[in-house]
Amino acid sequence: MKEHLEQLKTQALEALEKAASNEELESLRIRLLGKKGELTAILKQMGKLPAEERPIMGQAANNVRAAIEQRLEQCKEKLQVAALNAKLASEALDVTVPGKPVRMGHRHPMNVSLEELKNIFIGMGFAVDEGNEIELSTYNFDRLNTDEGHPAREWTDTFYLDENSETLLRTHTSPMEPRIMESHELPIRYIVPGRCYRKDEVDATHSPMFHQMEGLVVDKNITFADLKGALHNMAVQLYGPGTVTRFRPHHFPFTEPSCEMDVQCHKCGGKGCPTCKGEGWIELLGAGVCNPLVLKASGIDPDKYSGWAFGMGLERAALQKFKIDDLRLIFENDVRFLEQFD
Ligand code: PHE
Repeated sequence: MKEHLEQLKTQALEALEKAASNEELESLRIRLLGKKGELTAILKQMGKLPAEERPIMGQAANNVRAAIEQRLEQCKEKLQVAALNAKLASEALDVTVPGKPVRMGHRHPMNVSLEELKNIFIGMGFAVDEGNEIELSTYNFDRLNTDEGHPAREWTDTFYLDENSETLLRTHTSPMEPRIMESHELPIRYIVPGRCYRKDEVDATHSPMFHQMEGLVVDKNITFADLKGALHNMAVQLYGPGTVTRFRPHHFPFTEPSCEMDVQCHKCGGKGCPTCKGEGWIELLGAGVCNPLVLKASGIDPDKYSGWAFGMGLERAALQKFKIDDLRLIFENDVRFLEQFD
């Protein structure tokens, strides 16, 4: 029995030493010292010993239990210290490591120039509205005096959304003219910036998605002179004092008379260069006096009221303002490009 106890002690201490976790220690404790454990099993045989040996064996068994318990405690402590050290090592913070830079974007030149344009028009008493990009052909065409058969209504020009050509991605912001006319009190002074779509191939000056800004004024005694004054004033505020503008006759079904406004080329000052394709001028917008037919179709009496409207390409305005010569740069969103413009 003595040997048994000695054997148990050596094996137990060894096993405890090897335990790698608290769970392992606990199951060893149960196996060695528990009610059905190995020590108890040995003690059960005490009865077979002669009476005088029993106290000695009892003493020896108690010593073994004490040794195991002591080692158990030591091992627990050892595991705790090891766990703490591992945690400290994994959470070590090197305050001298340089921080990760936060990557900042930059305001897009389109937004910069849109913001400026809005402020210019708000300064002239205009309010800002937003239109819908999906439009009914009625508003995109019919209500703008653009009947069936007009080339702008061709499938090759336009993104229709149904086979009956009733809905489409608007080809300009002008459908907002009749929409505002029929839903707002007179007088009307609105600008409407937003996205438009046409089936154009991408090149340095074209994109199938682009931005326009519509402007609409309807009031009593409005003439072409109001149009010229406001638009010239806008160009001067946008491009700086001394900006030269030019109005050329043009045709739009929904304005009469109609015109296009050009600004003198910023690169060559009007002499002609690659930026203005040798013209000396850059076309900025289309405009005109509201066609009485359009007013009438929206429930406004053309004998009492008149108006003027314009639509300008916002990309073109931004390119001109920031002297950027390729439209594609505007859509690439490379921060190194964007951050050059404020
Ligand atoms: N909607 C026209 C275009 O896209 C521009 C325009 C707007 C012309 C308002 C006159 C009046 O070309």
